Amino acid sequence: MTEQKATNVHWHEGDITRKHRETILGHRGATLWFTGLSGSGKSTVAVELEGTLNEMGVLSYRLDGDNVRLGINRNLGFSAEDRTENIRRIGEISKLFVDTGVISLSSFISPYAADRDQVRALHDAAGMDFIEIFVDCSLEEAENRDPKGLYKKARAGEIKNFTGIDDPYEAPSNPEIHLHSDKQTLSEEVEAILVVLRERQIIK
Ligand code: ADX
Repeated sequence: MTEQKATNVHWHEGDITRKHRETILGHRGATLWFTGLSGSGKSTVAVELEGTLNEMGVLSYRLDGDNVRLGINRNLGFSAEDRTENIRRIGEISKLFVDTGVISLSSFISPYAADRDQVRALHDAAGMDFIEIFVDCSLEEAENRDPKGLYKKARAGEIKNFTGIDDPYEAPSNPEIHLHSDKQTLSEEVEAILVVLRERQIIK
């Protein structure tokens, strides 16, 4: 847990709550946390789901590893400490989206189980849904796809600490949703997520 640095700061409560905002939107906010190897299909599923939710009139927003690292997290690299800080910040940002009533589609390798559990704990403490989605795909298949050519570079030693090659990936032991992107179709994956969103009455 990152320690609180500033002292003499206090939460200022407003009059309008998440409930009020969710009433305007007509659905509940939640974080869908996509975790998996680079090239496993996290962003692909998130983009497809975002399109489907948009057609249904459900407001969602994608937070994506590469995109976030080009902005708010541009000062972070891929050491274990930086990955932990990356996930901590995204966890807080996801929580802000949920508080707005939006469904946050957060796709990050997030290789360390402890970091993902911290984000889950943050949501639990605030009474927010955190749905961990393991986008499972063999390293062999991800490396075969190599959409950004990064595995090739990592194998050639041009990228150090690349997840799955010379850096660890800790698969979730008990994710709410377990997708197999090397066996399921994209629409099957999206449907599996929609089922859970309806079951939890996040959407109608
Ligand atoms: S995380 O480990 O901190 O969760 P994140 O999801 O933000 O990673 O970023 C991963 C993306 O950064 C990958 O999809 C890939 O495009 C790029 N990348 C560049 N270097 C690395 C690396 N050493 N390990 C993993 N991904 C990398």
